[in-house]
Amino acid sequence: MKLFVPKERDPAETRVAASPDTVKKLAGKGIEIVVESGAGEHSRIPDEAFAEAGAKIGGNADAGAADVVLKVRRPNAEELSTYKKGALVIASMDPYGRDDEVKAMADAGILAFAMEFMPRITRAQVMDVLSSQANLSGYRAVIDAAHEFDRAFPMMMTAAGTVPAARVFVMGAGVAGLQAIATAKRLGAVVTATDVRPAAKEQVESLGGKFVAVEDEEFKAAETAGGYAKEMSKEYQAKQADLVASHIAKQDIVITTALIPGRPAPRLVSKEMVQSMKPGSILVDLAVERGGNVEGSAPGEIVSVGPVKIIGHINVPGRVASSASLLYAKNLMAFLETMIDKDSGELKIDFDDQLVKATLLTRDGKVVHPNFAPAEEEKKEASGGGA
Ligand code: NAI
Repeated sequence: MKLFVPKERDPAETRVAASPDTVKKLAGKGIEIVVESGAGEHSRIPDEAFAEAGAKIGGNADAGAADVVLKVRRPNAEELSTYKKGALVIASMDPYGRDDEVKAMADAGILAFAMEFMPRITRAQVMDVLSSQANLSGYRAVIDAAHEFDRAFPMMMTAAGTVPAARVFVMGAGVAGLQAIATAKRLGAVVTATDVRPAAKEQVESLGGKFVAVEDEEFKAAETAGGYAKEMSKEYQAKQADLVASHIAKQDIVITTALIPGRPAPRLVSKEMVQSMKPGSILVDLAVERGGNVEGSAPGEIVSVGPVKIIGHINVPGRVASSASLLYAKNLMAFLETMIDKDSGELKIDFDDQLVKATLLTRDGKVVHPNFAPAEEEKKEASGGGA
């Protein structure tokens, strides 16, 4: 079995889908691994480290021989043209709203696996790329805020006077938000947080944060079986906005992380709320690539709104690339291992396996994932092809 790890094509991508550790483990199973030269450059993994771990250092031409390609991002058209039919391509596919790109993967005849669809069950925790990367994003968001903030985080009582503790408000207390709370607490800030999932309250409090939310009937029912947030009603959003507006005006730093799978990010902070903040205040919008939680945030930019800054860095896990790559690589390896036959070391995919079913986007030239395939059926029905 041949495995290829390319250098990511997106210039904004600093991560790599393998590490010396994962290469060593996979090579130990008899897998022939080729890592494209320079693939680990921005994650501080030199070619020699991959070579020492048992990989051959190659070039893009090696993609065509690979049975498995491990990637960070969805392959582009040029990459797809180099893969052989039937190859497994495992990556963060970011497929929502990208129907054409998903179809292109089907047309290329690859088996495309979207790691972000990994079910959140105990067996798959080690494969959860959303968690491993969001955790680092939450950490980095606080570091980025502290970097732009021109005051101290902790309260300091000195002979020359007292510096008050920074007030940090975290909106969205999922994996990224909880790590942001923990990081801001460690730096000495006074931390509050909000979320629409009731389970978040206890988690926020266990980290020493104070929970701020409209806790009505809708809130009590606002979690899906998968543990994700539902999109809230317009009425709830208005009530929440009122509560949040008066709170934000008293904060120094606001970090927003709110996402709803498959939908644009909810707008939580209006222009007026931004303008209500004290001079020197900082907002970090971790949802900026999904439409943004903060009005006026811009992907890849630090926007000044008067004396307040909105940080909208993209690919935040990539800003902690060395750590992010090690965890991401491990996530992918753990999933790949479930599709390798222990005795022969060859690929053996159980298409009825829950993990495969949940993540497989394309197979045999078709889009097979239920979140994308129904559109095809509807089209057929609309054209009179249905029953
Ligand atoms: P996410 O990245 O989809 O969303 C981030 C947070 O934003 C969530 O907590 C969500 O509830 C919140 N949010 C959405 N709309 C909001 C709004 N209007 N106002 C305020 N907050 C809003 O979520 P993430 O980080 O992936 O976590 C979702 C859940 O999954 C959490 O309960 C987490 O603990 C759980 N989880 C379970 C795992 C497992 O069992 N293996 C692994 C990782 C996470």
